Amino acid sequence: MKKMLDLVVTENQQLNRNYCLLKLSTTDNSPLPEMFPGQFVEVRVDNSPTTYLRRPISVNFVDKDKNELWLLVQAIGDGTRKMCEYQKGDIMNLLLPLGNTFTLPAENNGQELLLIGGGVGTAPMLFLGACLKAKGYNPKFLLGARSKDDLLQLDDFGKYGEVFCTTEDGSYGEKGYVTDHSVLKNTRISAIYTCGPKPMMMAVARYANQHKIECQVSLENMMACGFGVCLCCVEKTSEGNVCVCTEGPVFNIEKLTWIN
Ligand SMILES: Cc1cc2nc3c(=O)[nH]c(=O)nc-3n(C[C@H](O)[C@H](O)[C@H](O)COP(=O)(O)OP(=O)(O)OC[C@H]3O[C@@H](n4cnc5c(N)ncnc54)[C@H](O)[C@@H]3O)c2cc1C
Ligand code: FES
Repeated sequence: MKKMLDLVVTENQQLNRNYCLLKLSTTDNSPLPEMFPGQFVEVRVDNSPTTYLRRPISVNFVDKDKNELWLLVQAIGDGTRKMCEYQKGDIMNLLLPLGNTFTLPAENNGQELLLIGGGVGTAPMLFLGACLKAKGYNPKFLLGARSKDDLLQLDDFGKYGEVFCTTEDGSYGEKGYVTDHSVLKNTRISAIYTCGPKPMMMAVARYANQHKIECQVSLENMMACGFGVCLCCVEKTSEGNVCVCTEGPVFNIEKLTWIN
């Protein structure tokens, strides 16, 4: 059940020139609504005269002990730039939680689960990895970025599983794209979960399809309302056109038209 909530910024860490990590909590210490990996929130961006609509941001992590929601924000336009300026004590109005979730394996047979994130698409992978780890799985992370400075939260990822990286300029991990990484060749993978730029996700989907690996992708289509009213997030699927904000953002690749 989605709610509109005022949350207070408890911390804003500037991770690098383009990214910040916002930590938010309730104003009255009431528990945050339950959230699941893959879900997102819609942020009302106050004090940005050019940002009329809410902006969708993935649930990066939920720290239940501290009653904190984490949002990893890449400043690419007026709305996200304003979010990265928020300070401790500022209030943010959020609609949450929205969208569906990644489907976790029904039972733990020691299967290899690979979580692939590219760019800001690494954001939902942290919470997914933490939830898998809490259920006894040993996820592996494969994170891709342009350069070393764009690889974020590596220590946090390391708490929940082994971390592999690629950078396009070779400044950290293996040089190239995530689909070139040797972990794909050396590991018997049962399922892949991915989020990132669309060309990256399409390449991962093709790889998974070729190797008969189950694969779920989290789409980041442009969104406005976030709850199925404006129809600006439509994606063509095997079952017709659907709103990514309500039917997704997570889809099994078999449902998409990418691999056919
Ligand atoms: C389900 C979902 C989850 C997301 N999770 C995150 C997240 O965790 N962290 C994060 O930083 N961003 C995330 N995004 C992307 C984020 O919503 C956009 O970057 C943001 O709306 C841009 O707003 P702006 O006002 O800063 O930029 P605008 O001025 O609106 O746009 C700046 C530029 O970014 C492009 N753009 C806008 N939205 C998107 C988009 N969805 N995908 C690609 N390009 C876009 C515009 O075409 C324009 O070129 C997510 C998007 C979706 C749909
Ligand atoms: S964002 Fe409005 S219908 Fe999906």
